[in-house]
Amino acid sequence: MLIALLHNADHDALEDDPGREARRDVVHVAEALASALTRGKRVAVPVAVRDQPLLDFISLGRHPPDLVVNLCESVSGDSRGEMAASAVLELLGLPYTGSAPLALGLALHKDKAKEVLVGRGVPTPAFAVVGSRDELAGVELPFPLIVKPVREDASVGVTFDSVVHDAAALRSAVNIVLTDFQQPALVERFIAGREVYVSLLGNAPRVVLPLSEIRFGKSFEGRPHIVSYRAKWEPDSPECRDSPSVPCTLPPAVHARVVDAAQSAFAALGCRDYGRVDLRLTPEGEPYVIDINPNCDLHPQSGYARSAAAAGMDYAALGARLVEVALERTHGHPPHRSGRPSSARRPAGPDRELLSRRGAVRARGHRPGVAAE
Ligand SMILES: Nc1ncnc2c1ncn2[C@@H]1O[C@H](COP(=O)(O)OP(=O)(O)O)[C@@H](O)[C@H]1O
Ligand SMILES: [Mg+2]
Repeated sequence: MLIALLHNADHDALEDDPGREARRDVVHVAEALASALTRGKRVAVPVAVRDQPLLDFISLGRHPPDLVVNLCESVSGDSRGEMAASAVLELLGLPYTGSAPLALGLALHKDKAKEVLVGRGVPTPAFAVVGSRDELAGVELPFPLIVKPVREDASVGVTFDSVVHDAAALRSAVNIVLTDFQQPALVERFIAGREVYVSLLGNAPRVVLPLSEIRFGKSFEGRPHIVSYRAKWEPDSPECRDSPSVPCTLPPAVHARVVDAAQSAFAALGCRDYGRVDLRLTPEGEPYVIDINPNCDLHPQSGYARSAAAAGMDYAALGARLVEVALERTHGHPPHRSGRPSSARRPAGPDRELLSRRGAVRARGHRPGVAAE
């Protein structure tokens, strides 16, 4: 079996990229998964999407792997490329891991995602979207608030100054998002309290891996307890050292509320296979969904991999399970598969993708070198 680990290689695409570290990291994830997944007859190779993305996709389509592990989080330095990449995989008829374009697009349009959550009754902090300075006057939310770019990920654009306590600080934080990130600002009620992560794996059933939370240490004294960009991506910063992710234990009733909110949020956006839902928990034990990460970070040191390890799955086992989950969704569960080799490529089951059905039947033997790095 040939697996292509498709990833963006666009950290040099922009001269001044505020998300450069996050973009670079995915290359390491692809390398780590390549060695974790390559066993016996299963060969996994990283495939980069560079500055001529369509050519890279065409080359992938010409040498179709059995499965694409889709690690592509952006294209040409633009996070919106995440949904575009999965859409191209659909057009190519290639089976791939993780969520479909709609869920990926929704998760990266935080205002739209929150509207869906509100519509489904999933708790999420009250919010407003500010697309221009003039719209600030219409924001009627009580302080404290947090201001983030509406369509970024991985804490891009989040600093201590994103948490604001008065109108002047709000204006300044919104200005930064509008000018530096060229997109609207999401203004949200700041939920003081614990930050809890729920990692989900599989489709039917969708397994909840052991919960984790961020332990905010000394350098957060007198400062907002948030996972800023520095805290997430600058390992030498005091914020990063002082915000480890640790196992999270909750009273049973609170645990149930947290898991229910996370599962409902994941399902509301139509996410699949794997992902992580981030919540804040008020001191009274009320959970609020703040971030849905459909194709979340799979770095060996990520919170997701650590939650899997806590469930007894080492990194290789996690990789193998991700592959299995995607293949089961695409082709049906093993007992339902026909023995004929060519039929294994035909998607079956309720989640099959019509587009992938069109292009999916290929000779299994045809797998000359995927454009490897
Ligand atoms: N409403 C909120 N209340 C408290 N903290 C928040 C809130 N929204 C975001 N944060 C903090 O900011 C961090 C980044 O925000 P998040 O919504 O997860 O954006 P991203 O998609 O960029 O990861 C979170 O990990 C959390 O620490
Ligand atoms: Mg987040």
